[in-house]
Amino acid sequence: MYSDLIPRFQIRQNATLLAIESSCDETAAAVVRNGREILSSEIISSCKEHIRFGGVVPEIASRAHTSAISLATEKAIANAGISLNDLDGVCVTYGAGLLGALLVGVSYAKSLAYALSVPLVPVSHIRGHLAAAYLCDDTLEPPFVSLLASGGHTAIILVDADYSYRVLGSTMDDAVGESFDKVARVLGLEYPGGPNVEKLAREGKNVVPMPKMLKGVGGYSFSYSGLKTAVINYVHHAEQTGEEYSRADVACSFQHAAIDILAEKALEACEQSGYRTLTVGGGVAANGYLRETLTNMCTDKSVKLVLPPKVLCTDNAAMIGAEGYLQYRRGNFSDLSLNASARVGLG
Ligand SMILES: Nc1ncnc2c1ncn2[C@@H]1O[C@H](COP(=O)(O)OP(=O)(O)O)[C@@H](O)[C@H]1O
Ligand SMILES: [Mg+2]
Repeated sequence: MYSDLIPRFQIRQNATLLAIESSCDETAAAVVRNGREILSSEIISSCKEHIRFGGVVPEIASRAHTSAISLATEKAIANAGISLNDLDGVCVTYGAGLLGALLVGVSYAKSLAYALSVPLVPVSHIRGHLAAAYLCDDTLEPPFVSLLASGGHTAIILVDADYSYRVLGSTMDDAVGESFDKVARVLGLEYPGGPNVEKLAREGKNVVPMPKMLKGVGGYSFSYSGLKTAVINYVHHAEQTGEEYSRADVACSFQHAAIDILAEKALEACEQSGYRTLTVGGGVAANGYLRETLTNMCTDKSVKLVLPPKVLCTDNAAMIGAEGYLQYRRGNFSDLSLNASARVGLG
């Protein structure tokens, strides 16, 4: 029985782990050594199939994963220059995400771990986003401050020397990525919203008044629903009264308001905690204005910034391998009863 093997699995120093990610519309597989070195990272996206619906359609995403998962895994193994027998474990995103989509990855990872008699390592997607930072800086070790800016989460976290997390503050309503997606819709932009708002914002100016949000108050909490409503009201009012307005100026002003507060609070956390390193994770960390703002502020304040390349900020399997390695080292293995879960936080 597979479960009888679990107590006998050895934890290897230089572990080569396969990681699988299928929580949304990207089917991804990667081979990561030691939680730090990416031997291969493959992504097959069904993004284009969702555009005409204005967002990810769960059933379409699940079917696309079913067709893509073997190919993504085979490519990851081949491009890493290894064979399946070289694997020391299989890591998989078990949540959070779309249930049907997650189940494809979880089932595939289970069968592979069973067939190879290696540990099955369940990984939280959101912890994966945070762990992407380990893949771009060999020397990165906690303690540090992490800014999590994704489609479902917005938080400032202290990562202590023992790798434990202390959430200093998070959003009280919408996540920052969610607000980008909603504003994109109001501005008539296609899915995926975030990158399209950024593109339009490049043509505009920061001249439309936006709410202050929780600037200078509320500790490390965030609130994005007021900002989203302000944009909706502005656009609807202009349309109803026939006033001319610039969509690009709205996008640019929204982007400034949404991002500036993230950067300010993240730097404040570095100042207050005394931790002189800041890492960033999540899809919104691919935003050029956020990257530029953080780079400038961290230089000014002499804080070391660990900013993963854009491809490691959006969904990928290498980050699952990085977090999976931390779990592997602790012996956090699962048996074949592992189930997918739509809601998994930092736990
Ligand atoms: N360049 C960008 N600018 C702003 N937001 C972006 C950009 N690229 C991606 N996003 C946003 O990132 C989010 C997806 O990121 P992700 O971290 O995978 O979210 P989650 O894992 O919580 O679902 C979406 O809300 C998307 O709009
Ligand atoms: Mg994600």
